[in-house]
Amino acid sequence: MSDKNLPVKADDEQHGAVEVAEPIADPGLEPHEYRITDIDPKAADRAERQVATMFTLAGLLFLGACVGYFAIPRDAILEFGPLTGNANNMTLGLCLGLGLFLIGAGAIQWAKQLMVDTEVIELRHDANSSPEQKADIIEGFNEGAAESGFGRRKLIRRSLLASMGLLGLPAIVLLRDLGPLPGRSLYNTIWAKGVRVVNDVTDRPIKPSDLVVGQLVNAQPANLTPIQEESPVEYQNAKAKAAVIVVRIEPAKIRTKPGRENWGIDGILCYSKICTHVGCPISLYEQTTHHVLCPCHQSTFDLADSAKVIFGPAARPLPQLPLAVDAEGYLVAQSGFTEPVGPSFWERG
Ligand code: FES
Repeated sequence: MSDKNLPVKADDEQHGAVEVAEPIADPGLEPHEYRITDIDPKAADRAERQVATMFTLAGLLFLGACVGYFAIPRDAILEFGPLTGNANNMTLGLCLGLGLFLIGAGAIQWAKQLMVDTEVIELRHDANSSPEQKADIIEGFNEGAAESGFGRRKLIRRSLLASMGLLGLPAIVLLRDLGPLPGRSLYNTIWAKGVRVVNDVTDRPIKPSDLVVGQLVNAQPANLTPIQEESPVEYQNAKAKAAVIVVRIEPAKIRTKPGRENWGIDGILCYSKICTHVGCPISLYEQTTHHVLCPCHQSTFDLADSAKVIFGPAARPLPQLPLAVDAEGYLVAQSGFTEPVGPSFWERG
């Protein structure tokens, strides 16, 4: 800019005259150009149909994602030139991606072609809004909502609401991939009347005479081994629920819960090994106190007192397995567990 354009000066004691730029003249607004949809009602209707078509197609694509999820085999492969991928995943991705694209494209078309196209000049003002300005904003928002035609243009509104509603459907359907609901699976383990208690390392059945006072053994049901040969997955599931600890405590130190008087054999008691907090396997046993500690969050259970929680976040005692001795002198279960094993989410409240 030449000196001629910077003529305003201010006196400054230290620096002498200082040049100050003049504000640029307000260029004003260019003449407003009306859109075809502003002056031709047919064009406006056409634009409205285009927007509604995009929203409707989006809804159909969301439905297509759900249909494809169930109809396309999980192992089907789709090839696009050099690209190869799982057909189920690709269908889901394409349908959801295209559907969302059409919602966005429809919204842009709606705003550009049909919403009010007024040009305004807004002068700068203080950052803080006064109560009147806030009221103005709310009023302006309400006006804008009215001018957008959301209430008036029923076709667009309904197709948008329908497609957005259908967008939630794939999200619900995909929850299925989280796996089957646990249901009452933790109420049942493979322990049953007469099932022998075996050492989980040697797989040998345990006799009461194998245990000395103060000893704790990790054990499992004898009927677990045949499952291992049939299905490794079933075996892991069954073992995760049926693992137990067998402990021998001096009988005089045991405080038996009413109703459990015959659940132990000469001070030998059997409890679930699965912590009732969030399911870690426990076995850090301190024989002088009869306390067993869970290594995950330090829940501590008193095995001499029906595995009552004496410390930590666990909400309930370890379930106890009633024991008996079979005709050959081995430890067996009197029945399965009488309460669910594992974390205590289920029966809260
Ligand atoms: S899992 Fe045992 S204390 Fe948390």
